[in-house]
Amino acid sequence: MAYETINVDTQDHVCLIKLNRPEALNALNSVLLGELCAALEEADASDKVRCIVLTGSEKAFAAGADIKEMSEMSYVDVFTSNLFADTNDRISAIRKPIIAAVSGYALGGGCEVAMMCDFIIAAETAKFGQPEINLGVIAGMGGTQRLTRFVGKSKSMDMNLTGRFMTAEEAERAGLVSRVVPAKKLIEEAMAAANKIAEKSVLTSIAAKEAVNRAYELPLSEGMLFERRVFHSMFATEDQKEGMAAFLEKREAQFRDK
Ligand code: HXC
Repeated sequence: MAYETINVDTQDHVCLIKLNRPEALNALNSVLLGELCAALEEADASDKVRCIVLTGSEKAFAAGADIKEMSEMSYVDVFTSNLFADTNDRISAIRKPIIAAVSGYALGGGCEVAMMCDFIIAAETAKFGQPEINLGVIAGMGGTQRLTRFVGKSKSMDMNLTGRFMTAEEAERAGLVSRVVPAKKLIEEAMAAANKIAEKSVLTSIAAKEAVNRAYELPLSEGMLFERRVFHSMFATEDQKEGMAAFLEKREAQFRDK
């Protein structure tokens, strides 16, 4: 499909989606958010794609929701359209792994979209923030919720109340990002991680993602039960037989997603 505000490039089993509104530092307007969700859903439904990488430009992953588009909206407009609920629901429903590769600004909705992905690889230049407070609003797509779960109350309060930005180094220390890499190697590293994931069975990737995500929703005993039941169910798959046989035969496993 042809898109106006994103580029989509599928290489082997990895779909690379690049936000592309350079004139507005990839500000998330309604067209871009619609296209992003559609591209993610298309990749999720594809038999070929096994992992997705979402990135922006060197200067900005995304500098937030589009302020120009939002500025004249009324309470009734945002309440009745349930502004941004659809984006959160659609991205959260993607079953295949999504890696956010973040360079430059990931602010407001940009930070929130990165946090909707399964993990974040950051360039040394990345800057994360929830500066909505400077605009007379608060975060609306997870900046007070997901960020707090990632970095804890104190740092989340600091980010949400002062609007200050966090460097990549601080974000890694705080548990917001999984690794920090040189800016020039960001895409290479993210694609390498995605290709590593793409070597596994899609069945186990989806199951592992679902199980980790349950940790954010359930008490420990219920989460452990969910994990154990899903682990048990893997023994009904051909890929479990193949994975364990390959180990014992000292060869690479050939997973067939069955
Ligand atoms: C619309 C934006 C934008 C945004 C930048 N631009 N961010 N347009 N919405 N969020 C536009 C600028 O208006 C400018 O356009 C161009 O991008 C380049 O930006 P500059 O400000 O000139 O660049 P720079 O001086 O390098 O500063 C970069 C910046 C700054 C620090 C990232 O742009 C900035 O503070 N942006 C806003 C960040 C923010 O507040 N984000 C939260 C948004 S609210 P022109 O046409 O002038 O050249 C939000 C709510 C989420 O996300 C709620 C739920 C989703």
